[in-house]
Amino acid sequence: MAGSRGKFITFEGCDGCGKSTQLKKFSEYLTKEGIAHIFTREPGGGKISEAIREILLNGKNAEMTDECEALLYAAARVQHLHDRVEPALEEGKLVVCDRYVDSSLAYQAFARGLGREFIEKINAYALEKYLPDLTVFIDLSPEAAFLRKHGADENDRLEQAGMAFHNRVYEGYKILAKENPERIVCVDGNQTPDEIFCQVLRILQERGCL
Ligand code: TYD
Repeated sequence: MAGSRGKFITFEGCDGCGKSTQLKKFSEYLTKEGIAHIFTREPGGGKISEAIREILLNGKNAEMTDECEALLYAAARVQHLHDRVEPALEEGKLVVCDRYVDSSLAYQAFARGLGREFIEKINAYALEKYLPDLTVFIDLSPEAAFLRKHGADENDRLEQAGMAFHNRVYEGYKILAKENPERIVCVDGNQTPDEIFCQVLRILQERGCL
């Protein structure tokens, strides 16, 4: 008899929300507990998707249009699902992904202003076939993330322009979380890393993902 299919969990949040720290703790936990899993990330996670990531995050490609950017995120996602996510789920492994389609909704639909219809359309494959079993949203505002990183003094004009974009990302996430309470769980990012991690573990256990 075939084993059961694995669960698909994604982590989301604004830049600097503490997501990487949580993913590191979670990775250590899963290894210690001997839980079969893979860790992966978007954009990237496989050979072709990592090549697309290079194009997307390369500062020399600043003239890229917002639409092209959104399509490349979606393209990388389809390849990543094929190369890494589907095979691991098939093997019954837990798949933990650093960012996924909610990032495209928060960053491209809400913050870049491309709108949800366009982003949902180009991500229909992911949304229809691979919606995560659970999404952990580390809820920390961009201001709080910035102050934590730099202290109160460096809030210059350039950063403030960036801040407007990140605030739209944050508001986008809040809307998505409100609309999908059964899938997206919010964890207060103002707590200590250990407190956040305890809460994340508890939620994953309660939701039958561990
Ligand atoms: P990365 O260095 O991995 O940042 P982080 O540690 O914050 O995840 O860069 C990923 C960047 O790509 C991040 O700024 C969010 C952005 N992104 C999108 O704009 N849309 C997407 O669909 C995805 C997956 C990421």
